[in-house]
Amino acid sequence: MAKTIIEPFRIKMTEPLPMTTRGQRERFLGDAKFNIFRLRASQITIDLLTDSGTGAMSAAQWGAMMTGDETYAGSESYFQLERVVQELTGQKYVIPTHQGRASEHILFSVMVKPGQIVLANAHFDTTRANVEYLGGTAIDLVIAEASDPRNEHPFKGNIDLARLEQHLRTQGDHVAMVLMTITNNRGGGQAVSLANLKAARELAHRFGKPFFLDAARFAENAWLIKQRESGQGQRSAREIAQEIFRLADGFTMSAKKDGLVNIGGLLCLNDDALAERARSLLILTEGFPTYGGLAGRDLAALATGLTEVLDESYLEYRLASVRYFYNLLDKLGVPLMRPVGGHAVYIDAAQFAPQIPKEELPGVALVNELYLEGGVRAVEVGTLMFGKPGEVAPLELVRLTFPRRTYTQSHVDYLGEVVASVFARRHELSGLRITRQPQFLRAFTAELEPLAPCAPAKGGR
Ligand code: F0G
Repeated sequence: MAKTIIEPFRIKMTEPLPMTTRGQRERFLGDAKFNIFRLRASQITIDLLTDSGTGAMSAAQWGAMMTGDETYAGSESYFQLERVVQELTGQKYVIPTHQGRASEHILFSVMVKPGQIVLANAHFDTTRANVEYLGGTAIDLVIAEASDPRNEHPFKGNIDLARLEQHLRTQGDHVAMVLMTITNNRGGGQAVSLANLKAARELAHRFGKPFFLDAARFAENAWLIKQRESGQGQRSAREIAQEIFRLADGFTMSAKKDGLVNIGGLLCLNDDALAERARSLLILTEGFPTYGGLAGRDLAALATGLTEVLDESYLEYRLASVRYFYNLLDKLGVPLMRPVGGHAVYIDAAQFAPQIPKEELPGVALVNELYLEGGVRAVEVGTLMFGKPGEVAPLELVRLTFPRRTYTQSHVDYLGEVVASVFARRHELSGLRITRQPQFLRAFTAELEPLAPCAPAKGGR
C-alpha cells in the first residue's frame, strides 16, 4: 500500500498565483508601512494570513449554489441547512448569521448582563470583544501546559478543571455561561479532549450554568480526538462531532472555517425562550430567521460543506498537510508551538530571533522577512496583535495558517524552503517600531518602521 496521503480531490478550476521579485516586494512592503495587513492580494504569492473564508469550495458546493433558493421567507435552502445541522448537532434551533462574530454578538446580548462573567478555555479575540462590549468579563482558564510552546501535551486546548470549579464556586452568582473554543485558535490550534469537554459540561451543569461551544473548527478537533484520545480511535469523526455537539446547550460557529464556505455563521440553541429572543435580535441586525444575513445560495453551500468536512479522507489530508509542513520545519530545528495543531503551524518568534526584544516585535520582523524572501504572508500573533502601548504579549508567535483545499504539496515544499532560508540568517533579523497606531485592534492598520535598514536585495525569487 502506498504511504503518501494525497489530496483527495483533483483541480478543475485554477487561479493564478501572483509572482513577484524581491525588489518589488521590498517596495510593496515599504508602501504598506511594514504591515502585511496593508498588502494587496496581487502582491502575495502564498497567503497564509488566515484559514477563514479563504478555502476552495467543491464542485458539489458550487452546484448547490446554482440551485440555492433565494426566497426571502421560507427558503428551501434554509430547511436543507436546518436538517443537516440538526442531524449533526442535535440542536433544536438553527439560526444562520453572516459570520461567527455576529452569532457571538447575538448570543451574548441575550445571555450576558453587565457585570457577568464568561468562563472559557480561551476566548477568541472577537468573542472576548463581544463579551466586553456588552459589559461582561471574559476569563480564560486554559491549562498551564498551553503557555509553554515546547510542552507536547496532546490537548493543550483543555480547560483547567480545578480553576473552573473554583471560579464557579466563588463567583457562581455572576457566571453567565461556560464556553469551550474548539480548537483553541489563540493557543496554537490546539484541540480539547472529549473527556475535558464532558467534565467541563458536568461542572457547568452542577453549578446550574449553561455550557456552550465556539465550534469554528469542530471537525479538526474531532479528528484530533480520534487520533490522540484513548478509546476514540475506532469511532468516526462524525460520531465524535455528534457527541460533542450534544453535550452543549448551544453553540456559535464561524462557518468560514470547518463549514468550508467563504462566508457564513451559525448560532444554535436548545432553549425555546432564548431562541425566541435571539431570533428577534437576528431580525433587527442580520435578517429574517430563514436567511440571517446570507443569500440562499450561501445556505446551500454551507449545508453541503458541513457534510463534506467530516469526510475522513478530507480530514486525514487536511491534518496531514499541516503536519507535513510542521515536520519540515521541525527537522530544520525551527522553534515551533508544539504539538502540531489543526489549522496552522505557529513559529515561536521569540526563540527564532532572541536578539530582538519583545518591544521591537520579533514576530513582525519574522513575518516581514518571510514576505520579502518568498512572497509568503503569515501573521504575527504577539505583541503587535495583543499588546497595548507599553505592554508586551506573553507569547510572540507567527501563525502560518492553511486555507482549506487550496494549496498543494509543492506549495508546502516551497514554504519550507522560504522558512529555511530566513532561518539560516535569523541572526541578522532586527526589530521594528510602531510609528502610528489606532486605539483599538492596532495590528490591522498600524504603521511601522524597521529599526535597522533593510538587508540589501540578495538573489531571492
Ligand atoms: N471563533 C474563533 C475560534 C475564530 O477563530 C474566529 C475567527 C471567530 C470565532 C470569529 O469568526 O471571523 O467568522 O466572525 N477567526 C479568524 C482567524 C478571523 O483568522 O483566526 P468570524
